[in-house]
Amino acid sequence: MEVLKSKKVLQDFIERQKEMGKKIGFAPTMGALHNGHLSLYEKAKEENDLVVSSIFVNPTQFNNPEDLNKYPRDINRDILILKNSGLVDAVYIPEVTDIYPEKTESQSYNFDGLENEMEGKSRPGHFDGVGTVVEELFNQVKPDTAYFGEKDFQQLAIIKKMVEKKKLPVKIIGVSIYRGENGLALSSRNQRLHEDRKEDSKVIYETLKKVNEWFRVKPISEIKEKVQDIFDQQRGMQLEYFLIADEDTLKETDFFYKGRSFRAFIVVIVDGVRLIDNMHLD
Ligand code: PAF
Repeated sequence: MEVLKSKKVLQDFIERQKEMGKKIGFAPTMGALHNGHLSLYEKAKEENDLVVSSIFVNPTQFNNPEDLNKYPRDINRDILILKNSGLVDAVYIPEVTDIYPEKTESQSYNFDGLENEMEGKSRPGHFDGVGTVVEELFNQVKPDTAYFGEKDFQQLAIIKKMVEKKKLPVKIIGVSIYRGENGLALSSRNQRLHEDRKEDSKVIYETLKKVNEWFRVKPISEIKEKVQDIFDQQRGMQLEYFLIADEDTLKETDFFYKGRSFRAFIVVIVDGVRLIDNMHLD
């Protein structure tokens, strides 16, 4: 596996691969790799000649410096995981100046309102930061296809919107949430939870499954009350939000409409760690 530590080295590598007509699958990350990331690479490997990943903790998508500082970083461990996986051909590990040559600042995007829903309400500017880094990475890596996890469903929707509006020459694929044995969605943040709290957090997935059973049977207002009751009974967990939204507009809905797709979204704080999850409702 090639470890590409600057924009120049990356560009030479990509140019050679393009000359050979290789189809490139790309999965950007912020490191702290886990099996959820590996599931992106697996899908990318199935569908491409070459799999490229990146590791870059993007400063502009963090809302506060404390969160940025606390973000887990262990580049040697990540490189080892990538090498051992046998799934990735090259990893790009840029310097901040490779991505932000002048100011470390986001561009402003209009994602047709998707950015104002859910995570956008509590994390101002976050999606501008994501859009900026992902667009720049696409420009540099020039992938044919790029892979993102559905755990961050709003991020995936926003990236699809950016690609559509800017007509970027890349296809975006969403990959289903990778869950641990107890159902907890894998996230780099889980590292900050004690083992017993990880076990307790399975209530998040169990609740989403119940919501899927209640959907179309009970009124959404009642489902919301039931979910609140479940988390009121959990020690040391706060429900930040739970809602059901239209999968395309991400707008919260109080009613079920025929012909539209809906998804449940949840954010729970467990011992100060913010866990997010979602589920398509059938
Ligand atoms: O999902 C992530 O890890 C990040 O938001 C991404 C897409 C790599 C952009 O920094």
